[in-house]
Amino acid sequence: MAKTIQDLIIGLKAGELPTVEDLSQLLAVRGNDSRLLLQAADSVRSAVMGNAVHIRGIIEFSNICRNDCLYCGIRRSNKAVSRYRIPDEEILETAAHAKEWGCGTVVLQSGEDPYYVAERISKLVRAIHAMDLAITLSLGVRPRAELRAFREAGADRYLLRFETSNRAHFARLHPDAPIEDRIRCLSDLRELGFQVGSGFMIGLPDATLEDVARDLLFTRQLQLDMIGCGPFLAHPDTPLRNSGQLPEKSVYYHVIALLRLLNPHAHIPATTAFDALDKESGRNRVLEGGANVFMPNLTPGKYRKQYLLYPNKPCVDEEGGACMLCIRGRLHSLGREIATGRGDAWRLTNAERSNA
Ligand code: 5AD
Ligand code: FES
Repeated sequence: MAKTIQDLIIGLKAGELPTVEDLSQLLAVRGNDSRLLLQAADSVRSAVMGNAVHIRGIIEFSNICRNDCLYCGIRRSNKAVSRYRIPDEEILETAAHAKEWGCGTVVLQSGEDPYYVAERISKLVRAIHAMDLAITLSLGVRPRAELRAFREAGADRYLLRFETSNRAHFARLHPDAPIEDRIRCLSDLRELGFQVGSGFMIGLPDATLEDVARDLLFTRQLQLDMIGCGPFLAHPDTPLRNSGQLPEKSVYYHVIALLRLLNPHAHIPATTAFDALDKESGRNRVLEGGANVFMPNLTPGKYRKQYLLYPNKPCVDEEGGACMLCIRGRLHSLGREIATGRGDAWRLTNAERSNA
């Protein structure tokens, strides 16, 4: 007899490994089954990760990129973007604000910009480390020696999405480098002692629900500390400008719920792109369906409109202080509090429990 949705959810909660078919079925649920799935994710998030939301302030410090990924608004072929690098002093000022505003972590993100050689990044990392903030880097694929230098300078975490586990799709979307480079980089990061984050874009062109299910299983296999996934949104200045969205919006939210059920201890952000999918409510809905992290944009206002990886990005007319106030309001309305402390990987903060 076919398993009911309730059976599948009970199985996931018990730690059973689902099949691609099981996950495809769960991704497509509607009505009351959809509510059951989101509630199950919310209850696992609450039981395992607690009620507090970790705030990681993101600084998008350069939009210069040597790559030409087909989906990305700051791909090197997009001549409509005016390119910037935020001066080091301004990056550090912004990090100091992050600390004042109550962020436990600063995330430094950029395109793959060759100007930022290892020593330049390491200098920034050392200065931010001295402010007693956790540091996450999101700089794309880097050689192992550079990653080691970042770690020695005090970087704690690294984010690098694999984007899709379908090798043929990956190759079509990324003309510059094969998926093996990313997988190699993720394993280097783990070996070097980073807390590692990865994830995929939901609803890439040609992706079926089975592809999404395989992405979910691949994510679980990577045993990640942090998992960032968000909807693919077609950017008008890219070759994928006419690519459609998934037929059902609810699928995007089901992905996050399933990530939580499959990875109970991972830090999972309500990524910014959800607010582009559902204006002002997307990230809140994700926080109610499995997520426990929020990443406010702290990039100084004058640069924000030039860091549009996808269209309808929220907060581009705001400054960091406004986003921080906004978050307090959002969390209050959801009955969640702001976490204190750095929000390190569960396996580090719960070492005794996980060894028991
Ligand atoms: N839509 C949604 N997400 C995108 N990203 C890049 N381009 C887009 C887009 N058009 C995501 C990628 C990348 C992250 C920084 O932003 O997943 O890893
Ligand atoms: Fe930026 Fe709401 S999070 S204005």
